Amino acid sequence: MGTVIAIDGPGGAGKSTVSRGLAEALGYAYVDTGAMYRVIGVLAAERGIPVDDEAALAALCDATEIEFGERAGVPVVTADGRDLSRAIRTAEAAQQASRYSTVPAVRERLVAKQRAIGAAADVVMEGRDIGTVVFPDALLKVFLDASPRERARRRASELGGGDGEVDRMAKEISERDQRDRSRAHSPLRAAADAVELDTTTLSIDEVVAKLLEMVHRRLGVLASSS
Ligand code: DC
Repeated sequence: MGTVIAIDGPGGAGKSTVSRGLAEALGYAYVDTGAMYRVIGVLAAERGIPVDDEAALAALCDATEIEFGERAGVPVVTADGRDLSRAIRTAEAAQQASRYSTVPAVRERLVAKQRAIGAAADVVMEGRDIGTVVFPDALLKVFLDASPRERARRRASELGGGDGEVDRMAKEISERDQRDRSRAHSPLRAAADAVELDTTTLSIDEVVAKLLEMVHRRLGVLASSS
């Protein structure tokens, strides 16, 4: 079993940038579980699989090899060797991911893949249910959040949009939050023992430094008690 740092929270809270920075500082692997749901969402939509066709969605998850890599320092995600790094980053792909991720058969399969990755390596894993469901025994669980306006601003700038995009993103983010938080299976919520951090006014470096200190403290406590 590797050491797992679980980073959960809604879209635009800073999970990806912070998780990548933390993984790099620790020398751990970085796993973006949202990218896995996005891949399945994009492929399912492409094939016209309805959200209520659990059998077809289960078969799609079983048959698809999702791999993470890096090219010139930029994360790359492939499905059976096909590069979907750009296709999964559109606003539409985000909505498809949110829709298909409500399906239990999809969650069970992707969670199994995530557990296998965490069993084999030290990882910083980001998502919505990492601390609550995937790795309830993670060394450190963090729930990142930020004001809805700031999250919309970050997402708009990620997508290369200007100020006009922010209102549109705010609407999309609130729709997606609502679905992610209210779904029956593994809804988005902070684990009871998660450290909750509001990143609205913090820089990425400040958040990474805080988390790094927490990880070192926990690893130090483990080392001195063994
Ligand atoms: O983190 P993200 O925006 O890439 O996630 C896209 C969608 O995938 C999100 O709206 C909900 C879903 N998701 C999930 O249900 N569980 C996870 N562990 C990660 C993402």
